[in-house]
Amino acid sequence: MAHLPPVANAPKLLNPNKLPPFVDPLPLPPVAKAAGLKPSPSNPKKQIPCYRMPIHEFFAKIHRDVPATRFWGYGDSMPGPTIEARSGEEILVEWQNNLPVKHFLPIDHNLMGAEKDQPEVRTVVHVHGAKVPPASDGYPEDWYVPGGSKVYHYPNQQDAALLWYHDHAMGINRLNICAGMLGLYTIRDLFEDGLNLPKGEFEIPLILTDRLIRADGQLYYPVSQRLEAPWLPEYFGDAILINGKLLPYLEVQPRKYRFRVLNASNGRFYFLSLANGPAFQHIGSDQGLLASPQKARQLTLSPGERIDLVLDFTDHAGEEILLNNQSVQMMQFRVAKGKAEDSSSLPARLRDVPRTPESAAIRTRRLTLDQVDYLTGEPEVHLLDGKRWHEPISEKPVLDTTEIWELMNVTDDSHPIHLHLVRFQLLDRRPLNVGLHLYENKLSYTGDAAPPEPHEMGWKDTIRATPGACTRIIVKFEGYTGRYVWHCHILEHEDNEMMRPYEVVAPAKT
Ligand code: C2O
Ligand code: CU
Ligand code: CU
Repeated sequence: MAHLPPVANAPKLLNPNKLPPFVDPLPLPPVAKAAGLKPSPSNPKKQIPCYRMPIHEFFAKIHRDVPATRFWGYGDSMPGPTIEARSGEEILVEWQNNLPVKHFLPIDHNLMGAEKDQPEVRTVVHVHGAKVPPASDGYPEDWYVPGGSKVYHYPNQQDAALLWYHDHAMGINRLNICAGMLGLYTIRDLFEDGLNLPKGEFEIPLILTDRLIRADGQLYYPVSQRLEAPWLPEYFGDAILINGKLLPYLEVQPRKYRFRVLNASNGRFYFLSLANGPAFQHIGSDQGLLASPQKARQLTLSPGERIDLVLDFTDHAGEEILLNNQSVQMMQFRVAKGKAEDSSSLPARLRDVPRTPESAAIRTRRLTLDQVDYLTGEPEVHLLDGKRWHEPISEKPVLDTTEIWELMNVTDDSHPIHLHLVRFQLLDRRPLNVGLHLYENKLSYTGDAAPPEPHEMGWKDTIRATPGACTRIIVKFEGYTGRYVWHCHILEHEDNEMMRPYEVVAPAKT
């Protein structure tokens, strides 16, 4: 990553390598239960389930030998309770802000939306990957303060996929998510049920969040040496929590399991592998199942992305298997001895993912991902297409039309780009002559376009725009008209201008 500015007054930090590994079992987030029934906003005669989700402060143990850590999150756990939804069955969720009025992580008042005259503690919830009306999408400026609450409507008119909910408050979203405001939102459907993939206790979520932890067990969010401008361009922690635990273990039986992996980290990319044991069978991406399982020894996961996979421990009875990020160990699977019943299957064909032909697009937008380093020693800023958040909306796709977005990444970072509301497909990535682009504003490619790898051929909502390349995606803007956002999912970038509104507009009447 680019030049990291020095950090001011770092406290004494916990060294995860000094802790005994694999002493805590992997926790599973609880499943949310509906609080009751309420009339549907789309049909007041119909009663639909309503969930109540308090957002508040609690303490939780991240490791047996570490004092309990303060979190701000949903329910009483980090990650929060999992919402289990079914495709086509709408629900309501009341998100209640019961937080204190002072933030415990360092706010940068120079950032858009976090100015000194704004309340310190604000929240608004977004379900990442959900196709929802704009009023329920968690627009960053729709935040509310402690004591406030909002009921959002989720129609769930979409295919089975692992979505996730998290905070989206303007200018402090990186701090709120770091504090613990995240959880899973699963959509299931009949088609997926019919595949007989491992389910119930054999389907396990793995939610990855890296944190810096102080020696006293508390979260640490560093600040730059310029105390009046504390923002840092990236947050990385050496304590990698899985479902909120550091170095957990999971006892498994010698059979197939399905793992649903989410990278909910602020800025860390993961390169997952097993030190020993079976190969990954990659069965799904952000927005659902792949066409067929893809075997892999290593998986890359950028912030916001999800991977669905099957691991078959059948031939590994009695073994201990390590899950690593690069060469760092994160978790241990303990496979029981003997034999286990396994009536689940891993079909060779999963779900059709028809490729959207390029000819379906009525428009191509060329959008740069820039990084501005001010000569004056000001902190760097990342921008989308050279524009800041508050500039007028420039992307106005028409409802039910398809567009190609060319994400021209002229920075030296990978930026995971996420669009709200829609699912899309990766067309290709093509290396760019960055110098020519930056200094002469000329477009020239230095190589051929690389088609997606088989595991990137599924439906996506977050895509790695690799440095020095044009990443092309094809998107159909379906569902609703109205205002949404697109942004980089490195939360430090997002909070500092790497987010833009876009608006789906109704077709012109003829
Ligand atoms: Cu995870 Cu704006 O989203
Ligand atoms: Cu989203
Ligand atoms: Cu970025």
